[in-house]
Amino acid sequence: QTYALILAGGSGTRFWPLSRDAKPKQLLNLLGDSTLLNQTIARLDGLIPKENILILTNALQIDAVREVASELPPENIIAEPAKRDTAPAVALGVGLIAARDPEATMVVLPADQLINDTENFHGVLSDAITTAQQTQSLITIGIKPTWACPSYGYVERGGPSPLAPTGLKNIPHEVTCFREKPAPALAETFLKQGNFAWNAGMFIWSIPTVTHELSLHTPELADFIQTLQDSSNLPQTIEDDFPNLTPISIDYALMEKAAHVLNIEASFDWDDVGSWISVAKYLDDSENNNKTNSPLEEVESSNNIIFTESKNTQVALLGVNDLIVVQTGDSILVANRHQADDIKKLVAKLPKNL
Ligand code: GDD
Ligand code: MG
Repeated sequence: QTYALILAGGSGTRFWPLSRDAKPKQLLNLLGDSTLLNQTIARLDGLIPKENILILTNALQIDAVREVASELPPENIIAEPAKRDTAPAVALGVGLIAARDPEATMVVLPADQLINDTENFHGVLSDAITTAQQTQSLITIGIKPTWACPSYGYVERGGPSPLAPTGLKNIPHEVTCFREKPAPALAETFLKQGNFAWNAGMFIWSIPTVTHELSLHTPELADFIQTLQDSSNLPQTIEDDFPNLTPISIDYALMEKAAHVLNIEASFDWDDVGSWISVAKYLDDSENNNKTNSPLEEVESSNNIIFTESKNTQVALLGVNDLIVVQTGDSILVANRHQADDIKKLVAKLPKNL
């Protein structure tokens, strides 16, 4: 059987004031008609049955996640007892899926990406699933990079893998190097080299393969999976043991170290929507390169990004340039658009209840 594990426990300070601790990026109705988590679940329709979709989140977000994912069996939505980043979360997912089917194939998906071409998404994932079932590899999805973004992982693509099944539409390539979040200069080098792709943050593997690879590279997580397998009281074991795991992302803990990694190029659109700047390209164009989701009038104002929660607040700009202005029920952000990546510095200074 094939299972999906949706990782929906990230925090999202970059979208303050729209995002809060209990409402990070994946739970926002930023783009499209529903939340990014909702879109992630809907995108699996026809590929993975609802009873095989598991979501991992945390105590702060679980109520909101349950509301968004109301079509899933409630026991498939689980809160981690502590925030330990994605490697422990993946290990927990492996343990939970192994308890249902120790031979299962597993697709790990982030909850916070924008993908509209569902047909090609299904095509690529089906071929990745077939490859995971027939080889002992960890399969990644590659996105053609457009700039030297330092906040992604990079995979160096070699030739087509001789191990891969024949007849696939999307050909798995060998991965000669996986590098998570390289410094900007190194990212530039990768881009110039031409054979690097961004890691889409999705992973496809079989339970036996990932368990074996974890035992080689992060024995702590392999031991945790074993403890889950031996447990007669899973919720109690998770409560007791999960908080002791070392916080680290799956990219550093496993993908950078593993030898048997393959990559399939994404033939679908993909956006990680990392900040207000990346939201701007989906907003309406107003005059003078102002972007808005609300009615806007301006005089001598340019390059501003305006977002109001109600979407119908009248905004008026006079003689201001390069601003990000975001309005919600209880807060307003006014920022220089060149500092969109520094919003977390600001949020750190705000009262905790905001
Ligand atoms: N359950 C759970 N628990 N989920 C988590 C946790 C956690 O502790 N931490 C993060 N997540 C979720 C996030 O909500 C998101 O859906 C996904 O896991 C990925 O985490 P991010 O924190 O957003 O990772 P990233 O964007 O820095 O990097 C990853 O994604 C990039 C593409 O978007 C890496 O895989 C990169 O290599 C990749 O390029
Ligand atoms: Mg992300």
